[in-house]
Amino acid sequence: MKHANLNFGLAVLGALFGFALLIVMALPATALADEDALALAKKSGCLACHSVEKKVVGPAWQDVSARYKGDAGARELLIAKVKAGGKGNWTEVTGGVPMPPYSPRVADADIEKLVDFVLSLAK
Ligand code: HEC
Repeated sequence: MKHANLNFGLAVLGALFGFALLIVMALPATALADEDALALAKKSGCLACHSVEKKVVGPAWQDVSARYKGDAGARELLIAKVKAGGKGNWTEVTGGVPMPPYSPRVADADIEKLVDFVLSLAK
């Protein structure tokens, strides 16, 4: 009886582990891996003015992510900002330099991926 319980417990653990593994393996299908997102950012020209960790011309993407953490409207706002450009949100960091417009130079779907990546950076 004892052995039966132990085996049952191991079977449940095994099933849970397998399930967790499945979920982890399914994730990259929806979100871009960090290096793919960075490659897209490079290709799109973003890295001329941004880096993840440091202010370059524009604010560090890590700081952008931290500022909008928990803000449900941030995704829409930032997608619109990358498409149309604009200034005024980071004047204290940038001295008022504008963010250039990226639509239609960069495809809408790519802009959405880039914004999702930026927003994912805050820990
Ligand atoms: C010529 C320099 C430059 C390039 C190239 C550039 N940015 Fe920016 N970016 C800026 C500046 C400057 C700001 C701050 C604007 C402000 O003060 O509102 C900014 C702000 C942002 C923000 C925060 C916007 C906000 O309102 O909080 C995001 C997100 C962003 N950039 C993403 C991108 C992406 C994605 C790309 C590439 C497709 C890109 N940037 C390319 C200069 C640049």
